[in-house]
Amino acid sequence: MSEIFAAKELTKTFGHGKHVVEAVKQVSFSLQEREVVTIVGESGSGKSTLARMVLGLLPITSGQMTFQGQDVTHLKDRAAYWRDVQAVFQDPFSSFNQFFTVRRLLHRSLRLLHADVGRERLEESLQYVGLTGPDVLDRYPHQLSGGQRQRIMIARALMLRPKLLVADEATSMLDASLRVNILNVLTDLRDELGMTVLFITHDIGQACYVADRVLVMENGLMVEQGSTDDVIFNPQHEYTQRLLSDVPKLHQAS
Ligand SMILES: Nc1ncnc2c1ncn2[C@@H]1O[C@H](COP(=O)(O)OP(=O)(O)OP(=O)(O)O)[C@@H](O)[C@H]1O
Ligand SMILES: [Mg+2]
Repeated sequence: MSEIFAAKELTKTFGHGKHVVEAVKQVSFSLQEREVVTIVGESGSGKSTLARMVLGLLPITSGQMTFQGQDVTHLKDRAAYWRDVQAVFQDPFSSFNQFFTVRRLLHRSLRLLHADVGRERLEESLQYVGLTGPDVLDRYPHQLSGGQRQRIMIARALMLRPKLLVADEATSMLDASLRVNILNVLTDLRDELGMTVLFITHDIGQACYVADRVLVMENGLMVEQGSTDDVIFNPQHEYTQRLLSDVPKLHQAS
């Protein structure tokens, strides 16, 4: 396996003077090709801030990032980066234009990244997430359920066949069976397309279900990193132990 992404001592502070929030503190980690890695931590631990830095959506206070060996700390060509590094977010509604049909939204986001993707790819990506073109393409966002909107966002990211997919609470609006389904889709895509997945969740049960490796964040710090088995069965940090104690079934599964 070779390294696809690395973050070195990434730090993000918001605000000034008395109101400074250190959302992410000197976080280092790397991702290997074809790996599914989850970042887990409670609300406010800095997961989304870290994800937005990885995606080049938020200026970095200090630290360094590389993608495929290239320095991407301060992106010069965002469109090129986003053809390789795609995101799925928690709240898909806010990223939709209400007056565009799904078809137009999908084509538009491809055009913005100058990506040349055929019609089959679009249909195929919808199929991956359990939707069909005729079901959704001519509908407007408000005519869809939250779960459908979230699945469209996932399909949109998949159309580009990214090398790295960052999924931030991407399954939060899905019911339990659909959630497992999407988690399986993500791991299948890793197998079929060699994609690397950075999956972000506050739910350590989901984290361990999909991941090869788990990174644990508390208050902006990365307090533990390890293979999923190590983290589940031999958690080193008290915070990880506490997260795991909330999932009794998972812990007893040994
Ligand atoms: N734009 C901002 N301005 C000021 N503070 C911010 C900003 N964005 C995030 N924060 C703060 O940074 C900290 C981390 O927030 P972040 O959204 O990264 O957490 P999270 O782990 O994703 O939480 P959740 O599980 O609720 O999504 C929080 O204290 C938050 O209030
Ligand atoms: Mg978040």
